[in-house]
Amino acid sequence: MDHPNIAKVFDAGTTEKGRPYFVMDLIEGEPITAYCDQRSLPVAERLGLFLQLCAGVQHAHSRGIVHRDLKPSNVVVLEESGKPLVKVIDFGIAKSLQGKLTDRTLITRREVLLGTPVYMAPEQARAESEQVDERTDVYGLGAVLYTILTGQAPFHGERSDEVLAKVIGEEPNPVLELEPRVPPELTSICRRAMAKAPAKRYPSARELAEEIQRFLSGGLVRAYTYGLPEHLSRFARRFKAVLVTAAAAVLLLLAGGIYSYIRILNEADIAVKARQQAETEREAAEAAEARAVAEKERAELEQYYRTISLAASWFAIRCRDMR
Ligand SMILES: Nc1ncnc2c1ncn2[C@@H]1O[C@H](COP(=O)(O)OP(=O)(O)O)[C@@H](O)[C@H]1O
Ligand SMILES: [Mg+2]
Repeated sequence: MDHPNIAKVFDAGTTEKGRPYFVMDLIEGEPITAYCDQRSLPVAERLGLFLQLCAGVQHAHSRGIVHRDLKPSNVVVLEESGKPLVKVIDFGIAKSLQGKLTDRTLITRREVLLGTPVYMAPEQARAESEQVDERTDVYGLGAVLYTILTGQAPFHGERSDEVLAKVIGEEPNPVLELEPRVPPELTSICRRAMAKAPAKRYPSARELAEEIQRFLSGGLVRAYTYGLPEHLSRFARRFKAVLVTAAAAVLLLLAGGIYSYIRILNEADIAVKARQQAETEREAAEAAEARAVAEKERAELEQYYRTISLAASWFAIRCRDMR
């Protein structure tokens, strides 16, 4: 196996006393849970790390290798040129250690060393090793996702038989209940990945990764049933740009309409005023003309009287002269 998200194993064997051993890359990083929490990473960045984990697991599956022990302590994150790089460690070790032992007896042995099997898949908890396949790792991926989203392991318990009973018979507390800020689609994704029956899980790490990608890109998550309000708000979010442009166009049209309307009103007002002014001016001109006519008539009359009086004077003088 050669993949950037899988720690290299250089050597494996058994000691003289029969203890199996592995020699692998020392990853100078921290478990994924610590890495996320110490940096208070937002959900999208946690999912980015999770996708790297899925890519590593997918690669192993394509080579026919199942991890069987996926859990946060086996997912280490280091930083390479400022970017987080996920490395899955302990790949294939559980299988090699298993030998003729069932997972359950392995666990009861390991319990002494490693604590309780809170990340174990139900088919392993039931010691049905013939049922273990890629979907067992899909469960493990779901359990890691659950933990990096909620900050808690899916199950708790003091003793391993108590934990095993819960793994077999109980549902973990929903992600949303523990961490209300996590979008509800992710609760459904965790639930499907961690389904008790392998047939109800995502059939492969690839399909789980694709579901996460759909979530990140705003597509429809298959494990989640959307209500009408959610469909509408998703539609609004997806087509926000189009809706904003349409709204802007409507506003622009409206503003243009209002402007034209005001202009028409204004122009009508101006026309009325001009007409009124013309009327006033015409009336003034008529009055002036009437005054001029009256003045002319008066002047003519005056001239007439003056002529008459002149004639009268002339007549009087003539009469006097004739006497
Ligand atoms: N190759 C490695 N590089 C870096 N850290 C490692 C490596 N192998 C194991 N660790 C770390 O050492 C601790 C113990 O690992 P391990 O013995 O595999 O137990 P478990 O994985 O069950 O917790 C874990 O925190 C793990 O992250
Ligand atoms: Mg380990």
